[in-house]
Amino acid sequence: MSTATLRPPASSAMPRIFQHPMLRFWGTSVGLKLIMAATGAGLSAFVLIHMLGNLQIFQGAEALDAYGKLLHMEPAILWGARLSLLSMVGLHIWAFLVLTGKIYKAQPKVVGRPTKKRESTFASRSMRISGPLLLAFIVYHILHLTTGSVHPDYHEGSVYANLVSGLRVLPVAAIYVASMALLGLHLWHGVWSMFQTLGADQGRFGSPGRYFATAFTAVVVAGFAVVPIAVATGYIKPPPASKIQENGKSHEAEAPASAKAPA
Ligand code: HEM
Repeated sequence: MSTATLRPPASSAMPRIFQHPMLRFWGTSVGLKLIMAATGAGLSAFVLIHMLGNLQIFQGAEALDAYGKLLHMEPAILWGARLSLLSMVGLHIWAFLVLTGKIYKAQPKVVGRPTKKRESTFASRSMRISGPLLLAFIVYHILHLTTGSVHPDYHEGSVYANLVSGLRVLPVAAIYVASMALLGLHLWHGVWSMFQTLGADQGRFGSPGRYFATAFTAVVVAGFAVVPIAVATGYIKPPPASKIQENGKSHEAEAPASAKAPA
């Protein structure tokens, strides 16, 4: 008899890392759902804080740029936050993939058209599409506003000017607004699922988990989407050229002394 036939069937369905007794729980469906819920909660907190930070655009260039400067002041904190965000995104996707594999393997082969699950919504059915599209948006968004690689007029450290010149391009503003609609679909179902995983919601429409998910999603999506809309419609104006920062110094400050002081 080969050694393969002696292995218990349960462990063969589990990724190798989870065969360690300390990690076995995290490889079960409950463990994986908890990983998705915990990382989803962390990412939801990030989007809420990020949305509130962005709203400072309505207080003017100085307020938003000062906020940007504050975030970049301590490289260790900035990189710690970036790494934890990245690990949350990685774990969230990975747990989803392992869980999907398990569900797929456990499902009996269905012949004919699959039936709709009870209480499934458009948001729940589109999670597999909204997730990857959101990931694509985040990659584009970082290349656009953090590294400036796909921004036509990027000035490092000038968050307000970069946002305004970036989002005044109508197709770009449209991409941002459409992506916030996707974020809404993903968040609405994701936040409610989190309540279910934690056993706090029985999945009824009109239950506390649904109300919370709906209110949270509406606030986050509206708070994000108002920025590209305000810029694209001209409500938010570009800053004067003298106020545009470059590496934390304004162009005004870089002007030669002779240009500043009258002779
Ligand atoms: C209308 C919507 C959004 C606007 C206007 C916006 C604005 C910005 C701005 C201005 C920055 C650069 C900040 C800086 O350099 O100091 C930034 C960075 C970032 N944004 Fe957004 N954002 C939006 C939506 C989102 C969403 C939905 C996510 C994630 C789900 C997200 C994730 C990030 C990340 C990961 C960074 C990079 C942070 C870093 O490493 O420095 N943003 N965003």
